[in-house]
Parts: sequence; structure tokens; C-alpha cells
Amino acid sequence: MTEILNGTVLANNIKRKTKTRIAKLKNPPGLAVLLVGENPASTLYVRLKEEAAKDVGIYVEKITYSESVSTSELIEKIESLNARPDIHGILVQLPLPNQDTDAVIAAIHPAKDVDGFHPANRKALLDNAPVLVPPVALAIMRLIQATRRTLSHQTAVIVGNSAIFAEPIIELLREAGVPATFITRDTPALSAVTRAADIIVVAVGEAGFLKQDMIKEAAIVIDVGTNKIGAKTVGDADPALEGHVGFLSKVPGGVGPLTVAYLLTNVLKAMEAQEREGVNTD
Ligand code: GUN
Repeated sequence: MTEILNGTVLANNIKRKTKTRIAKLKNPPGLAVLLVGENPASTLYVRLKEEAAKDVGIYVEKITYSESVSTSELIEKIESLNARPDIHGILVQLPLPNQDTDAVIAAIHPAKDVDGFHPANRKALLDNAPVLVPPVALAIMRLIQATRRTLSHQTAVIVGNSAIFAEPIIELLREAGVPATFITRDTPALSAVTRAADIIVVAVGEAGFLKQDMIKEAAIVIDVGTNKIGAKTVGDADPALEGHVGFLSKVPGGVGPLTVAYLLTNVLKAMEAQEREGVNTD
């Protein structure tokens, strides 16, 4: 038997609470979203974030650019948003088609970095003093907690393409007492490594990549893949896993909606911190 971890239900609970908290504020939290180019997946994610933010009462300013916009034009825009008291969160949808991603992310004021990607926020998390934590990492942890399984003596692997994506997840798992390692699809003896893990987070971007013979029975599988098969969105886990693993967070309806919900809580959190402490943009 596989228990499906329903991210949509968890996300709706979080959004309901966020909406109630925002309704009590004098001014709405503000979120700026920068979208560069016309990548269909990015366009879809931005639309989902914008709709969810508006629904809970966040003011959203979406700024779109052609794929040829310069890095310096993006940075100038970010600096003007850093200085605006009505904008509490700034999000640059990734991947950027042609620009210098590191320079663009570094230009966001850490207090407004609701994606938690700025080096200062990444360091704060590793130093056990988290401020803004990447929503996708919060979403994955929430899904793992929803299993109600005791996490001591469990191990995890993150199978992905990017160590930077895995870093905050590994850190949150470590804090929960779960040793976690990042591996890629090219890791030697991949199946043996994944078969030894109690928790598998998969984000390689290939439909059906994670197969039954790669997984220990009763494992927790969190699918973070997004792949298109025609008009349909599917994850990286083979649909045949359902019925053979202990817990499964599927795509769609798993990590995605929860990530959006935690983005909104980060905007509110950023606003509260900025009202307490101000934002120094000197
Ligand atoms: N592209 C894919 N995932 C993300 C995310 O969590 N944040 C941003 N900004 N871009 C993404």
C-alpha cells in the first residue's frame, strides 16, 4: 500500500491561515515577480504564484522582459525594488535565459529574497540561523513530516541536477536528524545508493526516471520533477511506484502547490521583519 502525500490539501491550509493574517494588516504585503523570456514552464509557474498571491491579499507587481534584457537592466530594476517600502518580496523566476543569474540574485536585498537564494540567506541557513528559507525546501520537509514517520535512523538521498537546489533540503533534513546526500543521475551504482535510502527526493527532469527497482520497499518518495508529455505535466517518478513505496508525493498535486504556499508565507515573514527592522539599502 502506498499512502499519497497530498500537497494541495496542505497548501490550502497554509494559504487559508496566511489570508487570515493578511486580512488583519493595515497595508498589504507586496511581491515583485520578474519574468525574463517566454519559457512556458516559467510563465506557468509565475502565473500560479501571481494568482495564489493575489488570492491571499498580497499586492503583486509582475515585470516581464524579453529574453535579451541585459543583466544590468535587471539589477537596476531590483535596486529600485529594494528601496520601495511597498515591496517586501522580490522573486526572479529561474532559469534566466541569457543573463548572469548569480549577479542578479545577489542584487536582491537579502531581507526581500523570498526564494532564499541570496548567498547571505543560504549562509544563514547553514549557520543554523535561518531567515528566509527556500520555499521548495520547506515544502519537501512538510511532506516528509506528513508521513508522521519517526525520522531518527532514517537516511535520505536527493537525486538532482544542482547541488544548490539540494543544499537547503540537505540542511533541513540534517537538522531533523536525517543524514542526506546529494547525488546525480551519473553517480556510480546509482540504484544501489537509492535502494539504501529511506527517503528519496527526485528532481532530474526526466519522466519515469525513478523506477521500482531503484527503491527500498516502504521508502518515502518526494517527486520534484516537472516534465511535459503533450499537455500533461508529470514528475520524475514512474507511475508504477504507486502501490510499491510507503509514501509518495506525486506531480502534480505534491511539492508544487506547497512551494507556492510557502512563498506566500515568506512574503509575509519578510514584511514583518522589514516593519520591525527596516531595510538598509545604503
Ligand atoms: N524555477 C524553478 N523553481 C524555482 C523557484 O523555486 N524559484 C524561482 N525563482 N524560480 C524557479
